[in-house]
Amino acid sequence: MIIILDFGSQYTYLIVKSVQQLNVSCKVMPFDVAISEILKIKPEAIILSGSPFSVLDDDAPFCDKRIFELGIPILGICYGMQLICHLLDGRVEHSLKKEFGYVELIVDEKHGLFEGLETGDVVWMSHSDKIEKVPIGFETFSSTVNTPFVAMQNKAEKIYAVQFHPEVSHTEKGLFIFKNFIYNICGLKPNWTPGSFIEKASKKIREKVGDAGVVLGLSGGVDSSVTAALLHEVIGDKLIPILVDTGLMRKNEVAEILKIFENVGIHIEVVNAKGIFLEQLKGVTDPEEKRKIIGRLFIEIFEKEALKFDNIQFLAQGTLYPDVIESSSSKTKDGPSVTIKSHHNVGGLPEKLNLKLIEPIRELFKYEVRVIGKELGLPDEILFRHPFPGPGLAVRIIGDITEEKVAILQEIDFIFIDELRKNYYYDRIWQAFAVLLPVQTVGVMGDDRTYENVCALRAVNSLDGMTADWTKIPYNILRKISNRIINEVKGVNRVVYDISSKPPSTIEWE
Ligand code: XMP
Repeated sequence: MIIILDFGSQYTYLIVKSVQQLNVSCKVMPFDVAISEILKIKPEAIILSGSPFSVLDDDAPFCDKRIFELGIPILGICYGMQLICHLLDGRVEHSLKKEFGYVELIVDEKHGLFEGLETGDVVWMSHSDKIEKVPIGFETFSSTVNTPFVAMQNKAEKIYAVQFHPEVSHTEKGLFIFKNFIYNICGLKPNWTPGSFIEKASKKIREKVGDAGVVLGLSGGVDSSVTAALLHEVIGDKLIPILVDTGLMRKNEVAEILKIFENVGIHIEVVNAKGIFLEQLKGVTDPEEKRKIIGRLFIEIFEKEALKFDNIQFLAQGTLYPDVIESSSSKTKDGPSVTIKSHHNVGGLPEKLNLKLIEPIRELFKYEVRVIGKELGLPDEILFRHPFPGPGLAVRIIGDITEEKVAILQEIDFIFIDELRKNYYYDRIWQAFAVLLPVQTVGVMGDDRTYENVCALRAVNSLDGMTADWTKIPYNILRKISNRIINEVKGVNRVVYDISSKPPSTIEWE
């Protein structure tokens, strides 16, 4: 078991993913956890995450300095490296120059932590402070053009650190660092499998739910579908999956989902709530307000539906790790990271919920959810659908939402996805969708002037939604899509393509 001390980085859970990818168990703990709690777990290694703070801030999160005396191997990442320096009497200073994005490594020692790495390998940096002096007993073995101390080690004490982020996919050989640290330096062996997850999760579900019934918010996306399959496997018909037709779904989506679930033998209750969603969202333009309203409506509907069945005590949701970390803020128990968006299945929950929450895949990432779903026998049609956000098209219509705008966006989205499929490109993309902008531009159709809306197309590749890069869809496919949208969708006369990566952008526009 490895402990990851969380100092509030947006990427802490990517560290979890990296460790799990090596099939080793890990547990995230708050940065200020008592030494006695750490010792109870008997960890074989400790990883210190990054942080939005500087170690020089008055309110910077520090761990107990005594963790360096436990004889347990430690790996510090970014802030984690600076913290090791700061606490062990090295020197960290503010720097005028920020180092952000891709940089090339200069590697002085190609073994130990850097086995398999070499000069010229690309890593991803995100720091503004710099290390001026490493602590006594440490040696450095890598640098970049801007940063003299990129990696350091104290082999005798088994304390290692890197200034860049090996956990993000932008660092090409990031997994080498974890592999070298976990397998070679700590001597751990792989032991995590999808089967072991299902077994543990089923046991937890049984213990928690007992004889009670569970309602589940099914969107037809991978997360809620896998949650449904997992719960159905454990509690059978005591699971009541509810599909809320918000009117903000994609074209034909409700019918398609019903058909897929009919085929796998899971019955679904459909609630038509189009009217109430549109009414409550009328005139609302603020993205966070939209998300909160939608989250509240979902919960109200589930609570009401639950009363129609016997002994329903739980509400199940397909919340994932990235949803949890991106919705947490400094005020929550999840740690000192900053709120990016309130994902509806976390941020919109009311203070007092009449149902107890059950989120059996809360510790997983999307790619793991797909592996689990496959193990549970779900068809690829569900597992490889592009992700779709809980708030649906509401966060893809910038500005206020009307029935007419929803209908326009459904048509655009339909054409986009249809062309991707026809050109065998859908499966090469992690997520593709269209966004309707509250911007009108001048165009010319035949001999007439038009003054209509702009839509944006977005397609990204990602492992988990935490980081993403825009997809280089071939121009000929983009041309077909754009032509069809402008010709077939009334009200749109311009199509633009979003070429931003995450970070610094997010995947959805709101
Ligand atoms: P962002 O926009 O935060 O999106 O970069 C990351 C991934 O999460 C999806 N997403 C959501 N999923 N409820 C969900 O279930 C939500 O409120 C929500 N908001 C964003 C998004 O589509 C992308 O796959």
